[in-house]
Amino acid sequence: MVNTGQSRLDSDQYDDFNAEHESMDNLQKVSLFTVRGYGSSKRYQLATGVLGLISAALLMAVIGMAIQIKGMGVSQSSLNFTAVRSELKLLRDDRVRLKAVMDSLQHDYDKARSDRSLLQAQLDRESAMSDRLLSQIKTLEEQKKREDVRVLQLVRSCGRCPPGWEVMNDTCYYFPTSSGIPRKGWDDAKADCIRQGGNLATVDTLLKQTFLVGVLRVLNSEGFSYRSGFWIGLRQKDTEGAWHWTNGSSLGTGYWMDGEPNDDYGYEDCAATYPTVNILKSWNDAPCRHPLKWICEKEATATS
Ligand code: BGC
Ligand code: CA
Repeated sequence: MVNTGQSRLDSDQYDDFNAEHESMDNLQKVSLFTVRGYGSSKRYQLATGVLGLISAALLMAVIGMAIQIKGMGVSQSSLNFTAVRSELKLLRDDRVRLKAVMDSLQHDYDKARSDRSLLQAQLDRESAMSDRLLSQIKTLEEQKKREDVRVLQLVRSCGRCPPGWEVMNDTCYYFPTSSGIPRKGWDDAKADCIRQGGNLATVDTLLKQTFLVGVLRVLNSEGFSYRSGFWIGLRQKDTEGAWHWTNGSSLGTGYWMDGEPNDDYGYEDCAATYPTVNILKSWNDAPCRHPLKWICEKEATATS
């Protein structure tokens, strides 16, 4: 029995030994033929792990960027370069068109400016010409007035008065209205009338007063002023207030302006008549040395 047991033990041990031996051989074989394969597998596993980690990290990064891009509002279309390029071309075309429009407007503006200065120059020339014409018209109107009076004088006098003298009934009157004839004091005016065969006018009737002031108003284009007076043959000599005509007669009715004669400053001794609106109030006493125009009279020649 023991033997059997022993034998059995031995047999088992033998089997175990063989198995162990066989496994050792196998192991040896494996080590001999599969050492390299065994090592590569481990590295492969390691590399796979690392690559997995990298892939995961990259995936995370891509997802992160996508989220970021989406967050920045960048649309897919704006990233479309073709669309952007065509948009850019449209913008360039617009820019060229706008530049052309701007150049054309600038050209129009420059032209308008130059037209404006031409028109302004023309306007200035025409204004100057208009001023010249107006002044010529005024001169011609004054000339015409004088000519009218002259024609009237000739017609009315029928040759009884010298040229430039006006006739009224049997008296010729002279008004040195021309601007070429300077104003004179009363004495010089009287001397001029005497030189022409007459004397300063005596205005001793209403008819004469009305006639003379009427003529003065036609002749005078400047309106009333104390400078527009005409000496008449009336003067006060020794006694204040004693007015006498050059023919020696004393003053009857006087056609004084309101408030005259006032002997202004105490030395107004000569009388002048003026182209006043009120024909019956046209006289003023003035200083005899005042330079004024004057009215001469002389007898008209008898009609044949
Ligand atoms: C006065 C007249 C005076 C005249 C002299 C006027 O202001 O009213 O009375 O004869 O000046 O020019
Ligand atoms: Ca006076």
